Amino acid sequence: MSREWNRSSGILFGGDYNPEQYPREVWREDIRLMKDAGVNIVTVGVFAWSRIQPAEGVFDWEWLDTILGMLHDAGIAVDLATATASPPPWAVSSYPEILPVDERGAVLWPNSRQHFAPTSPVYRRLAAELVEAMVTRYADHPAIVMWHVNNEYGCHVARDYSENARIAFRTWLTAKYGDVHALNEAWGTAFWSQIVTDFSQIQPPLQAPTFRNPATVLDFKRFSSDALLSLFVMERDILRHHGVTQPITTNFMGAFEGADYWAWAAELDFVSNDVYPDPNDPTSFRSAAFVHDLMRSLKPDQPWLLMEQAAEAVTWMPSNAPKKPGQMSALSAQAIGRGSDGVLFFQWRQSPRGAEQYLTAMLPHAGTGTRTWKEVVALGHAVAELPPLGSTDLGADIALVFDWESWWALESAYLPIKVDYQELSRTWYDAFHSLHMSVDFVRPDADLTRYRLVVAPALYLLTEADARNLTAFVDGGGHLLVTAYSDIVGESNEFRSGGFQTLLGEALGVSTLEFGALLPPAGRPGSDGPGERLATAAGEFGEFTGQYLAEEIDLRGAAARAHFTSGRRDGRPALTSHSFGAGTGYYLATMPTDSGATAVARWLVAQAGLWRPDEDLPATVEVIHRGDVTIGINHGDAVVRTSLSGHDLLQDRPHHMAELGSQQWVMLRA
Ligand code: GLA
Repeated sequence: MSREWNRSSGILFGGDYNPEQYPREVWREDIRLMKDAGVNIVTVGVFAWSRIQPAEGVFDWEWLDTILGMLHDAGIAVDLATATASPPPWAVSSYPEILPVDERGAVLWPNSRQHFAPTSPVYRRLAAELVEAMVTRYADHPAIVMWHVNNEYGCHVARDYSENARIAFRTWLTAKYGDVHALNEAWGTAFWSQIVTDFSQIQPPLQAPTFRNPATVLDFKRFSSDALLSLFVMERDILRHHGVTQPITTNFMGAFEGADYWAWAAELDFVSNDVYPDPNDPTSFRSAAFVHDLMRSLKPDQPWLLMEQAAEAVTWMPSNAPKKPGQMSALSAQAIGRGSDGVLFFQWRQSPRGAEQYLTAMLPHAGTGTRTWKEVVALGHAVAELPPLGSTDLGADIALVFDWESWWALESAYLPIKVDYQELSRTWYDAFHSLHMSVDFVRPDADLTRYRLVVAPALYLLTEADARNLTAFVDGGGHLLVTAYSDIVGESNEFRSGGFQTLLGEALGVSTLEFGALLPPAGRPGSDGPGERLATAAGEFGEFTGQYLAEEIDLRGAAARAHFTSGRRDGRPALTSHSFGAGTGYYLATMPTDSGATAVARWLVAQAGLWRPDEDLPATVEVIHRGDVTIGINHGDAVVRTSLSGHDLLQDRPHHMAELGSQQWVMLRA
């Protein structure tokens, strides 16, 4: 398969281009300005279904032929979208059954986008016909360097509860359980009189009088991810069947709860992702780093692609702030540093009409006199200087377990206190990031041999195979930290007999006796009532603070390294360590606050004997080592003097002790 776009042609630069929204004289100006800005690729056709296919069986290719030809003549490559993300009005009028339904049973109507039920046989047929027609026409088009299937699957409708979904869910369950007896066992249907005698009695977990069966909800989340993925696979297979040799992708949405991206990534030729950090948040560079590293980890050792970012403001936040001067460039360098082989935007030209008319673009509505345009041109010229960077290995010795199954199980259970899995993961990621330590994300069954330290926050649902893998990691000499709410349930959200940590207890030497829910963090519903909100703890490395839970744990071989110093658990173990085989298992009986996580992380790094290379730099400066290239970025406001030295890839000259102003970055090769 051709991967030339990232191996020999340098960094991709461009964005979504929707020529169907503009008259043709604008197309000529677009191409001229794209050349000025250094654009070398555009994504065409994402929302063009109604323009490509004005009626069933009728296709209008002329405009698309023309613009693809113009782009090719100008030397601009195309990422061609399959256009299946927004069904045209005629499709809805002829086949209203394609519409999705929400969990209250309400139909989601058109006049927006993504109004399709993934399991609708008619939607699937119409989408397949469109993709067939497109690939038949364009499989050999010389402008096309990659194919872009649909768009952000599940973004607005992650879970559909339509009649089509009902039928497909029953089929999925029949394949999974074989007979209703097995399903009744797994779902614990003896509770609240839910025993079914035939699969035809099963409904998707629509809004009910009160708590829904957590096993049903968990299976429905799995089913819904699978249903969306089967759409991607259908389109990809049609493209392949018609001889497409270019890589095929669909754009992800970072840590998106609706789709298990570990399973998805295996089906994609390369991972692409859309990232929209909030410019109002001074730490949003860290949220971007988090999703970049997650994307990088989904397909280890392969570059991913930043498919969309905003040039400035978006439209869907409470306040849509512009980026700071230079910030677009700094965040782009960050994506490259963390493994992207391109910098693409949503979108090329700002739309004068439609729901996203305020969404800024590379070419703003206010034109080429804007700061945005000048920064886009400067960035385009800068990345054109960069050679292909190759390796996406950041040299991480630390891995963070990220597991959609645990996320879904946590979301579908009625817990002592509700937690946000992504937030818990972010807390640990941020802690290591602020210590300038690289982190890879891993699934719980990943090969962990290269890591010294593995952190598994709230690994709530644990399979026996995953537990064996983590236990073997400790046995082999690794350092494993597991936090509260881990090893609690099996694959159907059920408690295992024997209490908690029934699988990891051997490596950890602890067992949870009681969860000790605290009040929610300040500002959240229920946080003002009487009761404890934070739990303080102290150990050999100082004090730290936990939230959400202060568990009562039983030491079964582990030694306490820190004790709670407040509230109902005062004097009880808060953090333990346990020698097991050649390694150590640690258990944290709470969820640390940000500062708490940093304190524990710093201690763990020392325990694991890891070296912190850039420890004197402020936390707002990122130093990323991508293969043999070092990228230094100053996200803070003050000028920072660093010790970074090497050959400057932008300036093509040696650079010593790089000094970085606010939003400035360097890329150096040793
Ligand atoms: C997503 C979509 C784009 C656009 C942007 C706006 O990433 O894929 O079509 O709506 O959001 O932020």
